[in-house]
Amino acid sequence: MAVTIKTEREINIMREAGNILATVHDELAKIIEPGITTMELNNFADKLIREYDSIPSFLNYNGYPASLCVSVNDEVVHGIPNKKRKLIEGDIVSLDCGVIYNGYHSDSARTYAVGKISPEHQRLIDVTKQSFFEGIKFAKAGNHLYEISKAIQKYVEENGYSVVRDLVGHGIGQNLHEEPQIPNFKQIGRGIKLRPGMTLAIEPMVNKGVYDVWFLDDDWTVVTQDGEYSAHYENTVLITEGEPELLSIRKGRTLEDEMYGR
Ligand code: MF3
Ligand code: CO
Repeated sequence: MAVTIKTEREINIMREAGNILATVHDELAKIIEPGITTMELNNFADKLIREYDSIPSFLNYNGYPASLCVSVNDEVVHGIPNKKRKLIEGDIVSLDCGVIYNGYHSDSARTYAVGKISPEHQRLIDVTKQSFFEGIKFAKAGNHLYEISKAIQKYVEENGYSVVRDLVGHGIGQNLHEEPQIPNFKQIGRGIKLRPGMTLAIEPMVNKGVYDVWFLDDDWTVVTQDGEYSAHYENTVLITEGEPELLSIRKGRTLEDEMYGR
């Protein structure tokens, strides 16, 4: 299937889906503290998503058993919530969530500090977030997809970290995963030409140490091979003729609000 161009009607629904998803993330951020279990975070998100007349898109996706991915410390992505896993002070936790609203998906991820963390781990979180914004400077009609990939990698590596190679971002719309695949690292060629109405989930996964990862026997959890910490940041993005629009943020907020955290 080719890359789809969304109509204004579809984009409006995706804005709604994204507003709901951003609300879920904001509420999750408020309850992160030492002692909470990763399952409690999942259950909180699942309940809230349904209250907003949405469906948790990750639940049962290719057999994934939960509504939220909760990846702690050296877990890169797809950590499975567990009622025995309590967050402790000094952890970093990535929350990846997706909703379906009115037939359309939104997908986003954030990484948070649990209590007080080391300055180096805070820098890992900050660089990961900023790498997304460095990448989307190139997310504009007429540019080519891999300009985004290259910019993400450049920023991450200049800051001394590495970009995961085994997982990529993706197109998104009526399906969670649509074409194209969006690597966060340099490719051969320049990729597809970006057009207004494309909707892309751009999601750098950044490791403090080596980029190599293992896939655990639970079939899901991805961890760093060297045990160093990893961070994740993702938004659903609309390509326009000008600055991209972030579809997975709260209504009324801008790309700049989100980037500067104001
Ligand atoms: N953001 C992740 C992705 O795009 C979430 C998928 S997790 C799954 O791959 F559980 F839904 F598989
Ligand atoms: Co995604």
